[in-house]
Amino acid sequence: MVAKVYFLLFLASHLAMTLCTEIQVDTVNHRSKPSKKLWWLKEVTSDIYIGGRLTSRDIKYISEGGFKSIVSLYFYDEPSKFGDEELPSSAEAAPVAEEAGLQYEIILEPTEEWSTIDTVKKVTDALDHVARPVVVHSDNGYGATFVTLMYLANKTRNDPNFEPKVTSDSFYRTAVAMGYDFTSNQMKRIVAEITGERFVESPPKPNVSVKEWYKYWQAAPVYKNYFTAGQIRKSQIPGIIRAGYKAIIQMRPGVTTDGVPSQESVTLLNVVDGTPTYGDGKSGPRQTPETLRKTRIDPNRENSYISSNAEENFEVTNEEEFGDEIGLNVDTEIEHFKRIGFPLYHMPLGLGRDYTLEDFQKYKDDLIRLGREGPVLVHCAIGMRAGLFAVLAAALQHDKDMQWAQKRIRELGFEVSPSVHSDVYEIYKHWLDKASKHSEL
Ligand SMILES: *[C@@H]1O[C@H](CO)[C@@H](O)[C@H](O)[C@H]1NC(C)=O
Ligand SMILES: *[C@@H]1O[C@H](CO)[C@@H](O)[C@H](O)[C@H]1NC(C)=O
Repeated sequence: MVAKVYFLLFLASHLAMTLCTEIQVDTVNHRSKPSKKLWWLKEVTSDIYIGGRLTSRDIKYISEGGFKSIVSLYFYDEPSKFGDEELPSSAEAAPVAEEAGLQYEIILEPTEEWSTIDTVKKVTDALDHVARPVVVHSDNGYGATFVTLMYLANKTRNDPNFEPKVTSDSFYRTAVAMGYDFTSNQMKRIVAEITGERFVESPPKPNVSVKEWYKYWQAAPVYKNYFTAGQIRKSQIPGIIRAGYKAIIQMRPGVTTDGVPSQESVTLLNVVDGTPTYGDGKSGPRQTPETLRKTRIDPNRENSYISSNAEENFEVTNEEEFGDEIGLNVDTEIEHFKRIGFPLYHMPLGLGRDYTLEDFQKYKDDLIRLGREGPVLVHCAIGMRAGLFAVLAAALQHDKDMQWAQKRIRELGFEVSPSVHSDVYEIYKHWLDKASKHSEL
């Protein structure tokens, strides 16, 4: 009797599993949708994320996003710049992290080599004791990703109960999904030694047209010429262009759409995300002092957390994100690109509504043409709209199918399925599902 019940339970669960066919991803886990302030972090596990070299604002946003620690692979004895954006030295970054309430650790001495077994040991020591969630960062995420995956691989080898597991094979597949080429002989030897598996002669290489796309490490490689990002910052732009893009696409709506105000919001220090730009029944316009005071993350912060001459402990606008006194002002982003003479295409796609075949139809040819002409960076607020459309454009251009598109968007942290973004699922199906296309004829 008992055996029979168990058998039925087994059948039921087996059936449930086959019905909602889980998409298999090559990343270590099913990444989650990023937040507006931290879209540029790369999730490796649910509590270990990767970054490149951080600005002071990045460090504060990491704290505001709920992280507990930052582990820096390198020691930086000098400040530096990305484009025109200031990157603090380690001595300058440490007190910023401390004031923001973060643990801050540095792994290597200035002259130490990073791609060694010894570095993996040191990273293991750090990751075993710092509070999580943690951001591990290097110059551009490349070294930090490698040593973090090796840390997971060593845990996998030494502890049969360890999750999530990283083996030699899944390591190389994760690298490809994240767009990194970890196939130097030195790295392949480390992978073989840490995993205890055979030396892999020719592992798969990432499908990216710009090998060093991670000069602008915040971007996410989609496929070949397609890359996505969230809101880019004004002073990063010279660096973004130098990373090799031929064109940039902005998908966030302009100041008005069909005559109706349609400004989205910018991120603000010590202010929660997601409050409506123009206010609603519950709260006033987002950037008025009254609303800002009510939506502070930590009311007890010092004013100096914002800047040395701030009169309040919250930020009121963010010009770096092309913000004005109301919210995001895409017109100023468009003007900026005109002034510097670099092609920016505006393909607005408002939030909070279903997308239709016409929405994609409107941009399809330009998306694919730009993807043919060279590396293109498609951006919006967190890279979601950009990802949904860039994945489909890449699939059409490179003759990929529905499964590929669903897997790829999942690896970027988003989902397109009958239950999540079902509107986009219908658009994908229309263009990619060969079987359904035939049945239409
Ligand atoms: C791998 O894990 C073992 C057991 O936890 C530890 O003793 C060793 O130092 C680790 N090796 C590396 C290279 O991190
Ligand atoms: C990238 O190319 C490899 C072959 O080198 C292939 O196995 C893999 O599926 C491709 N990845 C994507 C996301 O298409």
